[in-house]
Amino acid sequence: MTAGWSKDQRSRWPRIIGALDGSLDAPALDALTEARLADLGRNLVDLEREVSPSDVERKQRRGIVKHLKRVLERQVRGSTLHPFGSAETGLVLRRGDVDLCLIVKDLRKPKGVLRHLANVLESEDYRDIQTIGRAKVPIVKFTDPTTGIPVDLSLNNALALRNTELIGAYVDMDPRVKTVALAVKHWALQRGLANAFRGTLSSYAWTVLVLRHLQSVEAPVVPNLQAGEPRRIESYDGRTHDTTVLHPEGFEPGTASAAELFASFFHRWFVQHPWDERIVSLREADDPRRSKRRWPAPKAGPVKELQGAVDRMGHHVMAIEDPFDLQHDLSRVVRAEGWADLMEEGLRMWEGLVDGTDLSALLAPVDGLTLAPDRPKGLFDDLQGMDKERVAALLATKRAELSVAQERVDALVAEREESIRLSKAMRGALKDTEGMSQDIRDVARGLRTRAAEMDEAKALRDAENKRLVLPKSRIEEELKRLYHTLTNEVDVFRVPSLEREQRDFSRFFELQAMHRGKAASDAHHQRYIELLQVQREEVKKIRTLEKDRKQAHADLLKEEPGLKEVRVRSGDVDEYDRRANRISRLLKDRRKERKRLSREVGRLEAFLKGGPQRGGAPRRGAQRGNGRGGPRRPRVDVKEVRERAQTGGTLSLADLGALLDQGGLPGAKQDGTQSKRHRHKSDRQAASRRRNDVKQRRGKRGKGPRSPRE
Ligand code: UTP
Repeated sequence: MTAGWSKDQRSRWPRIIGALDGSLDAPALDALTEARLADLGRNLVDLEREVSPSDVERKQRRGIVKHLKRVLERQVRGSTLHPFGSAETGLVLRRGDVDLCLIVKDLRKPKGVLRHLANVLESEDYRDIQTIGRAKVPIVKFTDPTTGIPVDLSLNNALALRNTELIGAYVDMDPRVKTVALAVKHWALQRGLANAFRGTLSSYAWTVLVLRHLQSVEAPVVPNLQAGEPRRIESYDGRTHDTTVLHPEGFEPGTASAAELFASFFHRWFVQHPWDERIVSLREADDPRRSKRRWPAPKAGPVKELQGAVDRMGHHVMAIEDPFDLQHDLSRVVRAEGWADLMEEGLRMWEGLVDGTDLSALLAPVDGLTLAPDRPKGLFDDLQGMDKERVAALLATKRAELSVAQERVDALVAEREESIRLSKAMRGALKDTEGMSQDIRDVARGLRTRAAEMDEAKALRDAENKRLVLPKSRIEEELKRLYHTLTNEVDVFRVPSLEREQRDFSRFFELQAMHRGKAASDAHHQRYIELLQVQREEVKKIRTLEKDRKQAHADLLKEEPGLKEVRVRSGDVDEYDRRANRISRLLKDRRKERKRLSREVGRLEAFLKGGPQRGGAPRRGAQRGNGRGGPRRPRVDVKEVRERAQTGGTLSLADLGALLDQGGLPGAKQDGTQSKRHRHKSDRQAASRRRNDVKQRRGKRGKGPRSPRE
């Protein structure tokens, strides 16, 4: 077997190659000394503390879940958000992700829902948003911007909720489950062996291996929680699953120490287990034979693939059965190199434990492995240690930037409104009441009448054109030819037949009618063109009349990248529509920028106020809703928001608004910094202000008109 391995492979996988060719003699299970186990026991206690998330991080995680629950359940009607995975089972590591499952009733278009979720998350400022619609379970991956904690959000992943329940039940049975599982998961992560996307096993699969080991040691530490009565049978996605989780009474756990269990884990799976013969199954008393599950060992196998003898090693290389989805082999993601890496590493660990190699050396991250960032940041971490003057100066800068950002949004909103209005004006669809001065209204009225005339001219022209089958030049040519034929002197030797003469006459009259039709069509077209020109001139008048208002924003608009490309040149309807659409896209970015700055201003203000740290009775009205009801505006639980802020969790604008309201933030509204309620309304209010100005000038009072498409 030694033959066929390259030099690189030999240096990368010396143990596994040795085991295959029989030259490696792995230590036996009883090779571990008592002293070594005692040491290991102490090390594992320290390790558990080290790899577990701090209280702050746990709170941050809870904050992320709470916030997303509120946002997403509101955005996807009838949905419920559930956390699952290690954070729920208790097997969470310090740098683990947050696993969430959105249960959506009647999920017919998962990709559409994924897209919607991605948009919602983007508007909430989450980072690195990535949707994976083709996976068995549709998923959106993203990162919480404040803490840097990654989040996996899957859709209708009901079985994952069930296996979380099962693993949680095992963890609750005995503290050794957690100690061993955390150590194994940590080892797998550090050594690059827990990445299903890179061809090794998932953290979940490692957990299943740990549980199966604890269940099957000589004196089991945990029983089989899926055995017994009554059974729970459930249907998901049209498939039936036995999702029974029972809590048997009277089970007497074995007394092996966590250190023994941890060490024997490596002996069991990397020295002893007959991978080619048995399936790892949490659900069955003994690991069943592969033939029982129709999961035969692959004919080729990883060794042949690594040696280049075959292209693919085949399926079920390790055969680890999912506890509920019996069709699902958790090793299906394992690739040949991943298999060799994890087998090599397992043997290395076992040897090291027996040799007395320092545990920290055995757990050192492999070369080139970039680990997730350390403990996520808190909301005010970057400000700690800064003196108040510096923070105040920073706040002043951010307020100024926010004020410019607000002006940019106002300028774009106004510009978009104008494009829409002019497009409507060109189409004659502008109504009298749509926020215009008297001069503009007069022009608009003319535009409407003219647009109707233009439509009529166009319709008449098109109706004539429909009847014309030949171009004008051909009609005239044909007419001349026939006229000549019909009026020339007749050659007595070639007198045309009566039918022929009749046909020529009738064709001649037909062409004459066509010619008249063409002339009429030209006249209608000409009229249409003339009307269009007048229309354009009149629209120009509106633009001139609106110049004053535009002037205020002119400089800001000049700086807008992307607006130049959609400048209106010919004054066609399409041009105005294109410009309005482009502005809508630009507005999205500008609003995001405003939101970001506004959050930053809120954060700095909260810091200067001693904000989240300080309590204080809520001011009257601090928790009022938006005053309009409506599902999109939640009531803010200020206590919960404060807790989240303390732990650096994500805060929405509504949260910050409520927080600031409670702390009392004089100056925030005087200097132009608005609460979420106000900011969200600001565009509509700007439009409404303009309309009211017009009304006041006219000395009238009344109901404000609606702005187009706002
Ligand atoms: P992970 O592999 O991330 O496991 O799968 P984990 O134990 O939660 O690990 P970390 O510490 O957060 O990285 C997350 C959850 O996804 C489901 C399980 O519920 C698991 O707990 N899952 C994962 C499956 O149902 N099937 C799989 O093949 C993988």
